[in-house]
Amino acid sequence: MYTITVIPGDGIGPEVMEATLDILKASDLEFDFHEARAGYACYQETGNTLPHETLEIARNADATLFGAITSVPEQKTPSSILTLRKELGLYANLRPIKSYPGVKSLYGDVDILIIRENSEGLYSGIEEVTSEGATALRVITRKASQRISRVAFEEAKNRGKTRVTAVHKANVLRKSDGVFRNSFWKVAEEYKEKDGYRDIATDELYVDAAAMFLVTDPHRFQVMVTTNLFGDILSDEGAGLVGGLGMAPSANIGDDNGLFEPVHGSAPDIASKGVANPAAMILSACLMLQFLGEHQEAFKLEQALIKVLEEGIVLTPDLGGTSTTMEMAQAVKKYFKKS
Ligand code: NAI
Ligand code: MG
Repeated sequence: MYTITVIPGDGIGPEVMEATLDILKASDLEFDFHEARAGYACYQETGNTLPHETLEIARNADATLFGAITSVPEQKTPSSILTLRKELGLYANLRPIKSYPGVKSLYGDVDILIIRENSEGLYSGIEEVTSEGATALRVITRKASQRISRVAFEEAKNRGKTRVTAVHKANVLRKSDGVFRNSFWKVAEEYKEKDGYRDIATDELYVDAAAMFLVTDPHRFQVMVTTNLFGDILSDEGAGLVGGLGMAPSANIGDDNGLFEPVHGSAPDIASKGVANPAAMILSACLMLQFLGEHQEAFKLEQALIKVLEEGIVLTPDLGGTSTTMEMAQAVKKYFKKS
């Protein structure tokens, strides 16, 4: 029995969450789902984007599924997802960029894992208004840089990947990305000597070049590891490469907790129409199942989604179909149950 915190959030968050939970309930595994609140609607009702209770529920669960939230316009209010990542110690953000059959994309066979440092960098939240405008502090520590580099090698091994590419801008951000770069190479040296890791090649690229190669030559990448802001941008670019935000899942992982969420936001333009693509949330649930060690179940769920995409009949409008979120989810559930 797994205890799972469920945070549906705002906009299409609750729609894709309902669809995904319905499929998970058809699994052979037993889940105890605990719903908790966060986001804009929660803020309007309680004055708090992330109630203490939600944090406690998430802290005590085996994993958390997070839909999407609408950002609160008031600058003073802390972001609920950033707070969750910080409080739960979720320092690694894993964003698979993968082509799926039947999904219109630039390339049909991309399979990259972007690993984004999730705890510091330009998202440290240290900003200050100055007489001239404002400044933001970019914090890069050896500890976090080495930690995320290790995640890259571990994930490469677990997924049978043979190359890890560090992405940075150490030619300009000499000190801060100098720390990131040196930390990566220190860890790479360690792994070069380790059984099971010797076949993993390593290289590095400046972030601007990496952004270009992601479009012109994505096959050169297998695992990319980078700092917080660069990872945020490159992974949305990657999502664009393989069919858009409706197809992009993510995992936020720490030493003893994990939170799984689609890369997309609350999509107010299509919210409450019931047409959001549930795939990103379903694939986030696959990542959760992998995290829980349920690899067979994760594989079955991904295969069920692939069948529906291949058939190309029950698809949401962003994928060129006319079906609703729940219709597409039901089609996935049908194959998942059969497998
Ligand atoms: P968004 O990801 O919500 O939407 C961007 C575009 O992609 C929209 O045209 C939307 O319709 C489309 N889209 C997104 N997900 C889709 C899906 N599953 N199926 C079909 N189409 C989909 O980003 P946007 O519009 O910039 O932000 C909206 C709100 O979400 C903002 O308040 C933003 O701050 C918040 N946000 C929250 C995130 C989170 O919860 N982690 C992440 C990104 C944005
Ligand atoms: Mg983003």
